[in-house]
Amino acid sequence: MKGEPLSSVQQHADGQSIVGTSVITLDDLTVTQIEELLHKAQYIDSHRKEVAHTCDGRVLATLFYEPSTRTRLSFETAMLRLGGKVIGFAGSQLSSATKGESISDTLKTVSNYVDVVAIRHPKEGAALVAADASSVPVINAGDGGHMHPTQTLADLATLQSRFGRVNGLTIGLCGDLTFGRTVHSLIETLCRFGNVRFVLISPKELRTPQYVLNRINATPTCSYEEVTDLSTVIGDLDALYMTRVQKERFFNEDDYLRLRDTYILDEGKLAKAKPTMAVLHPLPRVNEIATEVDVDPRAAYFEQVKNGMLMRMALESSVLGDELPGYEQYANQEVEA
Ligand code: NCD
Repeated sequence: MKGEPLSSVQQHADGQSIVGTSVITLDDLTVTQIEELLHKAQYIDSHRKEVAHTCDGRVLATLFYEPSTRTRLSFETAMLRLGGKVIGFAGSQLSSATKGESISDTLKTVSNYVDVVAIRHPKEGAALVAADASSVPVINAGDGGHMHPTQTLADLATLQSRFGRVNGLTIGLCGDLTFGRTVHSLIETLCRFGNVRFVLISPKELRTPQYVLNRINATPTCSYEEVTDLSTVIGDLDALYMTRVQKERFFNEDDYLRLRDTYILDEGKLAKAKPTMAVLHPLPRVNEIATEVDVDPRAAYFEQVKNGMLMRMALESSVLGDELPGYEQYANQEVEA
């Protein structure tokens, strides 16, 4: 199978294969396919040696037009741990983008070199443009303030490991809900699993965009409330998803400075939370979580980092159609929400 064009790879008989699929938002995958990825990531974690040659001979390109530490290194480590190789750039300053090359032309070029691409770009929609131009699967590693599907995969894996499920939960999302793409992706996806109560905690200026609220409104089993105060709601939450105020997406520095420290989670605030509440954060953290929280058993944000790598291993091998040795498909075929 390796070395053949992806378009020639047969879809699995059960229709659950994601071979050749670009992932721009998680709407590109069914709920069952997402569950399969969660299951694969668990398998990978406990079979690291067995999976170490799954993607031998494959090459991933990471095209990062925006800063990143975790996401890029995680995509790359994921491919390396599967036996593949990695090319790419971090920061477009030395790429032909500075000469005026379009994203389409870059992808038409790079997709001749590699088997899968991960792209991060400051413009909303850039990953979709990239996927349309590419002959190999493209994975969105963040497009402006829009979506960040692989962070959501990390978030889901973390909820799953903490609670044994990703729904039937009250989830607080706190901070920059306007520009925080991880929040948009997560809400969108949790709505598909259903049965989630969202508590949206932000200053009035950084409320959740209407298109994301519409998604909740369109889901009969989900609901939301918007509040500005964290301490009055923290006791109701099963999980609290903290976010950084997205400095780079502000038009006005004064607004950023005024809003950036609105919420700071510390042990004092956590005293009012459930002992089982999980604290998530996509990272990087600036001031929103005091470092004293790191040793609290409720802190789950460094687990999220590990889960991100495992989920990217599951996703990369799956879009390439490279089977994990010894892996058996998840039996539970749930009905799409
Ligand atoms: C997030 C991002 O880039 O959107 N980081 C990440 O990928 N883990 C969150 C952020 O930058 O605040």
